[in-house]
Amino acid sequence: MVYSSCFMSEAKEKVESAQNAFTAEFVRFVDLNLNGSDLADAEALMRELGELKIRHTGKKSALAESKKLIGKVAPEERGEFGQYVQSVEKEIVSQIETVETALTAFISNAKIELERLDVTIPGRRPRTGHLHPITILRQKIEDIFVSMGYAIEDDREIETDYYNFDALNIPEDHPARESQDTFYTTEGFALRSQTSTVQIRAMERRGVPIRIIAPGKVFRRDTPDMTHVPMFHQIEGLCVDKGITMAHLKGTVTEWLKRLFGEDTVTRFRPSYFPFTEPSAEFDFSCFKCGGTGTVGGLQEAVGSGQNTSGSIVDVDQPTANSQQPTGERCRPCKGSGWIELGGCGMVHPNVLKACSVDPQVYSGFAFGFGLERMAAMLFNIDDIRHMFENDVRFLEQFR
Ligand code: DAH
Repeated sequence: MVYSSCFMSEAKEKVESAQNAFTAEFVRFVDLNLNGSDLADAEALMRELGELKIRHTGKKSALAESKKLIGKVAPEERGEFGQYVQSVEKEIVSQIETVETALTAFISNAKIELERLDVTIPGRRPRTGHLHPITILRQKIEDIFVSMGYAIEDDREIETDYYNFDALNIPEDHPARESQDTFYTTEGFALRSQTSTVQIRAMERRGVPIRIIAPGKVFRRDTPDMTHVPMFHQIEGLCVDKGITMAHLKGTVTEWLKRLFGEDTVTRFRPSYFPFTEPSAEFDFSCFKCGGTGTVGGLQEAVGSGQNTSGSIVDVDQPTANSQQPTGERCRPCKGSGWIELGGCGMVHPNVLKACSVDPQVYSGFAFGFGLERMAAMLFNIDDIRHMFENDVRFLEQFR
């Protein structure tokens, strides 16, 4: 717009209309209440305000155009008009600045709030994992056997009937094969019901001489209760070489139990039957809690000092708990007997060796197997073995 000349009243109108246009748009910023707004809201308002500022005070604004009129009004009115335009401009700019200041303060506070770091808050400790009680016990036993020159074998949990039964000299009509005892999967396959399967697999793979232990899960169709779960853990041991005898078996079992429970631990072997060993025995050890006395808190003579009365192939040390007057409380882990029954063992049956193409005329060996749950329950004072598999971290955390 170019004015050749103009009257002050006309020029003032232009200024007024510029001011009115500003006021109409600015109304939403008057008495701005930022309560309940966040950083993003305030930044959006700030952008809008910036645009509004350019529209109403920028070079192309109506106000700027009106300022150009100063030179055009009559010289005697120029001073008054000039002052008027400037006062309107000042008013507009000051209103914008007030809101700008408030928004800037709000934005800066909101940013500080967002980035606030309270160095006095206690740090969040990373939760360190730890081992399951069964793993703790398994690793202890593995360490002992590794130090005695045994290798550790790991093998499959789904087995064929051949490895779970036939190769282990378990005949077709043996009760262990019944579906009540075993989980059959696809025809011809079953979840292994014992780690003895690994005896066969290991001898096939490694040949003889061999010294291995095989820890792992086994499965049996049991209804869970305080002392039974359908999945539990066993450790199998196997040693085959020339000239291996029952003495080696007894020495080995006694030695690892001494290393686990202490030098004073005594073992006993009771004649038993297993299809894959001949002769077979079950082995017990003197209770780690009462030292074989059967009582805690009273003076008792330990199991180891009892007379060996056995003339059979296995030694049976009589527990002394019954032969003496108990003076303390009945020991819990051994139920007052002084002995803890642990597992089965024996000399590997010639049929088992033959199944692995090992000549029983040249080689002989011993094997043993035992469960980990009962032992862990006794060691860690757990009254119900189901707790071990419910995976409640509050329970599991207690064992380290
Ligand atoms: N496999 C037997 C079981 O599950 C335990 C066992 C007994 C393993 C005697 C052996 C053994 O190696 O010789 O009850």
